[in-house]
Amino acid sequence: MAKKINYEPSRTLMEFRLLPGQTFKETTTEKILLTTPLVYSPGNEKKFNLNIPLVSAAMQSVSGAEMGIELAKLGGAAFIFCSQTIDAQAKMVKKIKTHKSGFVKPMTMKPDMKISEMYKIRKDTGHSTFPVVDDNEIFLGLISKWDYDISLHSDNLVKDRMIFLENVKVARNIADLKEANSVLLESHKSVLPILDNDGKLLYMIFRKDINDQLNNPLEIHDEKKRLLAVASINTHDYEERIAALTEAEVDVIAIDSSDGHTVYQKEVIEWIKKNYSQIPVIGGNIITKEGFRYLVEAGAGAIKVGMGGGSICITQEQKGTGRGLATTIIDVAEERDKYFIETGKYIPIIADGGVTGTKDITIALALGADYVMMGRYFARMEESPTDKIVVNNRVMKPYWGEGSARARDWKMKRYNQAKFVEGVEGLVEYAGRLRDNLEETLEKIKSSMSTCGVQNIREFHEKAELELVSALSIREGKVHDIYQATESNEKEEFNIEN
Ligand code: IMP
Repeated sequence: MAKKINYEPSRTLMEFRLLPGQTFKETTTEKILLTTPLVYSPGNEKKFNLNIPLVSAAMQSVSGAEMGIELAKLGGAAFIFCSQTIDAQAKMVKKIKTHKSGFVKPMTMKPDMKISEMYKIRKDTGHSTFPVVDDNEIFLGLISKWDYDISLHSDNLVKDRMIFLENVKVARNIADLKEANSVLLESHKSVLPILDNDGKLLYMIFRKDINDQLNNPLEIHDEKKRLLAVASINTHDYEERIAALTEAEVDVIAIDSSDGHTVYQKEVIEWIKKNYSQIPVIGGNIITKEGFRYLVEAGAGAIKVGMGGGSICITQEQKGTGRGLATTIIDVAEERDKYFIETGKYIPIIADGGVTGTKDITIALALGADYVMMGRYFARMEESPTDKIVVNNRVMKPYWGEGSARARDWKMKRYNQAKFVEGVEGLVEYAGRLRDNLEETLEKIKSSMSTCGVQNIREFHEKAELELVSALSIREGKVHDIYQATESNEKEEFNIEN
């Protein structure tokens, strides 16, 4: 006989509804903060906190560099997928870290470098203006794409074509971005190098970034004002992969596994703690209290929870393993709180798989999740790495599981892994730019929190009151007994949410 049988069924997010609490003047939507810890950090470093409780899944069809850049600008994070070569993944991380925003520490060129050599770096990084410095990092001038023509000047040296310091507008020792922006705006120039008293280059700021900064008040960046980058790894080639990712200056590593309660994952976490102690590791996925303890005691700083619930997932059907995400969150959150009381360490938990739309997000947060990971939601956006296709006059994007035949091919070749599929391939309806979609999603989350009378996610955990609802009640909560025009009827029929 089995060691343990639970006769109480596990619950999904869609079976719960929130009861309203009293709304106060302090809990109106504009006063609600969605900041939440990304990963445990002993010094509570700002870059290890998200400004919105959403991250995109580590999947080929979801999280590439473009998603990483846009989501970090908007206050979340994309977990860059690891089912690609080490080199390709490191390049994505580098692209996020070298993306310009605010004060930037750009790559520097040397005066004796050939234009052809510099041009190659321009192509690799996508940047067109570089500072030129000497061997002591003293700023000598600028070289930009207007200063040379590769068909004419490839054999010239940088110093033959650059603009020297006396003709460049520079500023000294400005640490305040607003002040630096106003100097740049007055200067008639497109870029402003900021030097220290010895003439060494500190940062540059770019005119085209100014609007970007104003548009992105929730942006998450590191101490050098570079966007946050999170990358996933597997338990096979992790030693080599982490070396390349840290070289690309990744901020946080997440282990990508459908079953994280394994000795392999424990060994990986311990190895990272020993060799790269400065990099926090997110472990998972687990669905039990024991799984949480096991990974946290190995050194994980956040834990992804969920198994079998993803929109493209057939794990439950294939292997009979899994658990309703609501029950998983309730169980693991209880253990997280217990661990916090015992140790003073708050380890965030991430609800992952089957979080389809805003109401699922709010229920997951209310039940105790610190943030949610979503695949399908983000796969629909312009910034996901796939191309749009038109099917029956509808614009769609492909979306496939990491355990699907399409992604499995990649893993099979390298690790001889996955002898059967655990995911499928399908299409999701194109939704447009992430920025526009997020605005509405965040507004709905805040509205729900306002109804519950809470000001932040921590309070949501402490004060939320939820209730199981019947199947009939769920039916009643949808549009009923009226005639509606076609599109929403179709959506209801297929149970698709936004
Ligand atoms: P979604 O947000 O419901 O689309 O679920 C996304 C999540 O499903 C991911 O973050 C993974 O945890 C999980 N997942 C990704 N690929 C597969 C797969 O092929 N099989 C099962 N689960 C998957």
